[in-house]
Amino acid sequence: MSRAVCPGSFDPATSGHLDVIERTARLFDEVVVAVGNNMAKNTLFSPAERVDLLAEACSPWDNVTVALFDGLLVDFCTIHRIGAIVKGLRFVSDFDYELQMAQMNRELTGVDTIFMPTAPQWSYVSSTLIREIAGLGGDVAAFLPPRIAERIRSRVAEREGEKPP
Ligand code: PNS
Repeated sequence: MSRAVCPGSFDPATSGHLDVIERTARLFDEVVVAVGNNMAKNTLFSPAERVDLLAEACSPWDNVTVALFDGLLVDFCTIHRIGAIVKGLRFVSDFDYELQMAQMNRELTGVDTIFMPTAPQWSYVSSTLIREIAGLGGDVAAFLPPRIAERIRSRVAEREGEKPP
């Protein structure tokens, strides 16, 4: 049984992420989407919310599950008997950093990383830009699964409502 992980912060998951997950699900028997349980501030969604949103977005694919992970990705791979890490690459600058992590992860436990070029129509989309544009009142629906776009709209409205007048 071949098993891969698609790891990330997914704050929020974009259509680019979903495209990589779908293509990975065609190549492996099982795919675990692993949401990093990082403690970074200024996130749009909590780790649990990100898992819920991804689980809903991935529901069309029977062989995809979503989980939170803490600590080292290689340890998550060992515990879940995952043989490959799949990462989407948008541009050359992604490659520099991802190559270093891939080589380090392989050195740590022998787990391999497979790089998947992002679909060209999503190559300029990033969660960071989505957060910035949405937070400043821009429309990001074109870059996200509909349910995630809807949740962003309500989260931004909630935060606006919390600001002092
Ligand atoms: O979506 P992101 O922010 O690019 O995801 C990065 C993530 C969570 C995949 C990466 O930071 C990660 O693997 N974190 C786990 C900690 C770890 O294993 N660090 C050592 C890397 S060599």
